[in-house]
Amino acid sequence: MEQVSAREISRVSVEGQTSTMMANQKRAFNNRTCEAPYLIFLGPPGSGKGTQAEKLHKNFRLVQLSTGNLFREQIAQGTELGLRVKDILAKGELVPDDLTIAMVMDRLAKPDTIMGVVFDGFPRTLDQALALQNKLDEHGKCITAVIHFNITDDQIVERLGARRMCPKDNSIYNLKSYKPKDDEKCDICGTPLIHRADDKPDVVRHRLNIYRQQTEPLIEFYREQDMLIEIDAARTIEEIEAQMDEWMPMFIYDANE
Ligand code: AP5
Repeated sequence: MEQVSAREISRVSVEGQTSTMMANQKRAFNNRTCEAPYLIFLGPPGSGKGTQAEKLHKNFRLVQLSTGNLFREQIAQGTELGLRVKDILAKGELVPDDLTIAMVMDRLAKPDTIMGVVFDGFPRTLDQALALQNKLDEHGKCITAVIHFNITDDQIVERLGARRMCPKDNSIYNLKSYKPKDDEKCDICGTPLIHRADDKPDVVRHRLNIYRQQTEPLIEFYREQDMLIEIDAARTIEEIEAQMDEWMPMFIYDANE
């Protein structure tokens, strides 16, 4: 990946704002001085985390670290990890923490993550959250903000029933709200889209239950640390993207300012 500085990220991302304004906004966000944005997207299945993480990757060049995508890639490649987690994903259960944390730490060790990461679907348990915080501390980094995608269960079930995904490049579509241009093929690579096995209504309900039990407590965990920002995830994709664009400058710290 082309290497760019935090200053350049600011420039490509925000029109019409001076660097000083952005630095002031950054300081206004809990005085956190992370050198690059490390954002966590926290929210139930189908709340739109992947859709917006993909946009942050395109618009701001952050690495999209999606644990769901990483597991699906392992499954597609038939690796040992893929074989171990295949049934777990199909049933909508959580993969054990040790396997998940090891996979995330491997990905974080790659040099492209130095310019910032959006964690999409990680952490989902308290142990995962603590492991991430410890790892970032070790490297003098920190979590910039945790964005909580707020939405009702009924809206989720409806969205996931219409979700389609490209098995090759992981792009996400929706037959109602974000249609592919050509029938059910990926706009980017033309591969026929799939309906994920874990998007069947009974598996979705199970994933929602697991989310409520194991992941939802993280909302309070991050709120107590003043890291949490709420977003109304029932708004349109474009409205949420515009809100993210507005927030991004306060997450970007430029040590040279
Ligand atoms: P993962 O792939 O991460 O699934 P998830 O978190 O359940 O999230 P989804 O991908 O279902 O939804 P999303 O919030 O990204 O929504 P999306 O943008 O696609 O994980 C899969 C599995 O892997 C887990 O069940 C578990 O087994 C395992 N796993 C992953 N991480 C793990 C971890 N940390 N620990 C243990 N196990 C782990 O949007 C949904 C649909 O809605 C799309 O069709 C989209 O086009 C549409 N849409 C999006 N936004 C809007 C909007 N604003 N308005 C209308 N439609 C919209």
